[in-house]
Amino acid sequence: MNDSRAQVREVGLRDGLQMVKTILSAEQKLEWCRRMVAAGCTEIEVTSFVPPRIVPQFADSDEVARGALTIAGLHASALVPNLKGAQRAFDAGLKKVHYVLSASNEHNLKNVRRSTAESVDDFSNIIAARNESGRQDIKLGAGVATAFGCTISGHVDEQHVLRLVETLLKAGADEIAIADTVGYAHPGQVRKLMRQVLALTGDLPVTCHFHDTRGLGLANVVAALDAGVRAFDSSLGGLGGCPFAPNATGNINTEDTVFLLESEGMRTGIDIDALLAIREQVASWLPGEPFAGAIARAGLPKGFVSLTM
Ligand code: COA
Ligand code: ZN
Repeated sequence: MNDSRAQVREVGLRDGLQMVKTILSAEQKLEWCRRMVAAGCTEIEVTSFVPPRIVPQFADSDEVARGALTIAGLHASALVPNLKGAQRAFDAGLKKVHYVLSASNEHNLKNVRRSTAESVDDFSNIIAARNESGRQDIKLGAGVATAFGCTISGHVDEQHVLRLVETLLKAGADEIAIADTVGYAHPGQVRKLMRQVLALTGDLPVTCHFHDTRGLGLANVVAALDAGVRAFDSSLGGLGGCPFAPNATGNINTEDTVFLLESEGMRTGIDIDALLAIREQVASWLPGEPFAGAIARAGLPKGFVSLTM
């Protein structure tokens, strides 16, 4: 990816939908995917392989993953919390699987019912399962959640996050994601941590995952850009949050993130007007859910020229 391109990965179908009351049909989820691809957003985390009793929204994860694989141009990925989830994702045929653990041991215990150290061990098991299956085409991303602070335990030590990144790289991660699960990060902290993360990752892709809980989401994107990050997770209409982290709220908003990146001279390949139309459609499916975002409210500035269009 050259310097003037940035990647936006839609996580509304996963991070967004895990928080909403209405259960969408698999067909609605796939329609959302199809329209995102037509708008130029080809990286989508389409579902999460968790037990349906924990997140009923994802009882159809298999169907959604298989359906997503038939959409031309879509690079579909899914979140998995453990080896069983990873095996289900491999069986569905996905080529990108995102594993998540938390830097905060307390959040990890709440989220996946085991310690961070146990989750690190499970990542090695997932790498081994991928290697044994002969499916070297499957890329395994590793995400560090609560990397900037935790609503349960508070401060998260930067050196601890960096050691986790090193461990995950050593285990064989193909991508690293650094997540501010609960919206505690501020720009100075992001710039400092992400510079050090990029020094460890070399040529491997690195994605930042921000939530806008305290209004600093897009400021943190700018700070991550300064540090050299060129890939971001975001959610249409800013839906999202972790059901297992108190007071978590939505991701940074996809429409506003694309607007910011294009304004900063980064080509995203994504049509903002098309995103606004998809947002309207998705909002009509999810009555009563909080859809955030400035561009949907105020419109694009007169004369704004997207690098993509
Ligand atoms: N998908 C489907 N079923 C799964 C599964 C998965 N990923 N992981 C475990 N199970 C099943 C097991 O097979 C077992 O089934 P059984 O009772 O029929 O034998 C049962 O669930 C319990 O397995 P166990 O390994 O003890 O899981 P657990 O109850 O300790 O739960 C997690 C662990 C990780 C599955 C659960 O905490 C979880 O899904 N967390 C994710 C939360 C989330 O989505 N957070 C937001 C995103 S960051
Ligand atoms: Zn998130």
